[in-house]
Amino acid sequence: MALSIEKLLGFEGKTVAITGAASGMAHCATELLLSLGAKVYAIDMNDVDLPVEKSIKGNLADKNAIDEVVAQLPEKIDIVYMCHGVGLRPGREKFINMVNFVGQRYMAEALLPKIVDGGAITFISSSGGYGWEQNMQNIGAVLATETFEDAEKWIEDHVDMFAQGGPDPYQFSKQCLSAYVKSKTRSQEYIGRKIRINAIAPSFTSTPLIKDFNAAVSKDGTNESGENEMYNLFLKSWNGRPGKPEEMAYPLVITASDICSYLSGQVIYIDFGMTGEMDWNTASAK
Ligand SMILES: NC(=O)c1ccc[n+]([C@@H]2O[C@H](COP(=O)([O-])OP(=O)(O)OC[C@H]3O[C@@H](n4cnc5c(N)ncnc54)[C@H](O)[C@@H]3O)[C@@H](O)[C@H]2O)c1
Repeated sequence: MALSIEKLLGFEGKTVAITGAASGMAHCATELLLSLGAKVYAIDMNDVDLPVEKSIKGNLADKNAIDEVVAQLPEKIDIVYMCHGVGLRPGREKFINMVNFVGQRYMAEALLPKIVDGGAITFISSSGGYGWEQNMQNIGAVLATETFEDAEKWIEDHVDMFAQGGPDPYQFSKQCLSAYVKSKTRSQEYIGRKIRINAIAPSFTSTPLIKDFNAAVSKDGTNESGENEMYNLFLKSWNGRPGKPEEMAYPLVITASDICSYLSGQVIYIDFGMTGEMDWNTASAK
């Protein structure tokens, strides 16, 4: 019997919740999920212009708003993709961490009772979170907080660290997210119910979020200068190009599909070899 890729992926009739779906990678992932027959609940602070089962608006940096969003989702969800995020925004150190980590963790855990046994959750971290193992003192402290409020307070109390040569606030938020995935792999609330947890970690990708990074590194405040700086920082050394949204979205979708039913606890770098080279350089220097 011929194998069918759609059947192997197994999305037909599955209930999927995806955040950040109004734009970029998650928008692209939503298009693929719809074409594979999933019932998609799309969440974003902006309108989602796709024919989803339900589009839910909310600010996922805010605890009450997250509670309201979770309440509007169905009682049984097969798969969750946590994709929303903001880029580097100077002066908004706490906000970045509330959107990219504190709110993400809170929402994922609020959704757990709705995720079916054997379900899956995949986050979008970032290659910016690479090397999180070197920063365990701070990451461990954030992960040890038990509530949204305690995590928020920890970030508030430590915003100065971003000006002191450590990871920038975006990197830190993504380091926390990557470390969270690892920390929960064998956690009872996940493995006890056979819920798989993974993340993809994209590098520089052409989506609207890149404007945040362009603005952060621009020498004269223009987007053009920012684009040049980003090219010099991330692409020039290997004659590279930015990734396309679908080059992140399609692998993202696959991680939570039936094809990947034995994949869990992984942070999968999708960066055309960037972190592979870093691994090699680190190993070679030893
Ligand atoms: N573009 C890149 O180069 C890059 C690289 C690595 C990781 N990422 C990560 O990929 C993910 C997707 O980003 P993208 O590049 O597709 O960007 P994008 O800006 O196109 O999409 C992000 C979406 O998140 C939504 N969002 C942001 N803050 C929100 C909030 N508080 N509440 C609800 N929705 C909110 C936005 O409205 C937007 O629709 C993000 O987590 C981002 O950090 C992006």
